Amino acid sequence: MIRNLQHIGLVVPSLEVGRAFYECFGMEARASRRDLVLRCVGREQDQIRLIEGQKKRFAYVSFGTHQGGLEPLKARLAKASVEIKDAPFDVPFGGIWFQDPDGDWVNVQEAEAAESTLAPTAEINSPHRHRRIGTRAFELGTVKKAQPRRLGHLIKFSPDVDRAVDFYTNVLGLLVSDRVPDIIAFMRSPFGGDHHILGVAKSSHTGLHHVSFEVGDLDEIEIGAQALLAAGYKDGFGLGRHGPGSNYFHYIRDPWNSLVEYFWDIDVIPEGAEWTPSGGEPNEFAAVLNALWSHAPAPEEFVRNFEEPD
Ligand SMILES: [Fe+2]
Repeated sequence: MIRNLQHIGLVVPSLEVGRAFYECFGMEARASRRDLVLRCVGREQDQIRLIEGQKKRFAYVSFGTHQGGLEPLKARLAKASVEIKDAPFDVPFGGIWFQDPDGDWVNVQEAEAAESTLAPTAEINSPHRHRRIGTRAFELGTVKKAQPRRLGHLIKFSPDVDRAVDFYTNVLGLLVSDRVPDIIAFMRSPFGGDHHILGVAKSSHTGLHHVSFEVGDLDEIEIGAQALLAAGYKDGFGLGRHGPGSNYFHYIRDPWNSLVEYFWDIDVIPEGAEWTPSGGEPNEFAAVLNALWSHAPAPEEFVRNFEEPD
């Protein structure tokens, strides 16, 4: 079974354009074979692999499983008549490769999420719960930057959301946290953690809707978003607070019109927790999809799939 999200791969027409965007976003870039990989500062784990190609497209998602986890997974895939295939890209890591029902490539490797060496951010004071006592939240005159700590999740498009959810839950073992049938679903690891590590949203064809990175606090969401906007990148949606997952968010468009999200304060659901997904009924549609609040309504193109179908 899948334990965690490791990284994603994207085919892009220019590695250098990608490097410029993600360095402005707060990531570190390094060459890997013919590709460019992006990592969070202070964390030894690839988060995005940019692969040069003719047009931008979602290449693959890589998940981690525990030591010895591949053999039982292979058995589940065989039972579902899913073929294990050769790696479709020249990458320096192992694991198994297969395609989900949308044809999107999935890699699963025996690997775990790396720890961050960055210091935790300041405690938050809220009514009746004062946790930062006798110290400032930040030193006066501080110049702060957004420092993404980890890739938290991705949302991919699918022409058949329910079929994709059936695959990622019944075959790969993820659990549904919130869902609107045929429209969108948010899925988490069965071993506990973030409200969602993978989401699937309806479109006529596959593609990447967004990737999302956790930052240290609410300030970093806006400091990061404002730096990207000042550099000329296009706004996506935000600032706001989501319904599903409860996280604060701000999305910016990457140079190829995918969204990249900063998030902070997402719901965490432990392994074995009682958790009832919302959105099972049509009248819960708005409750699942609407933000608690946002700076402005979501633009119409927020849900548009900018990737060209094959
Ligand atoms: Fe997100």
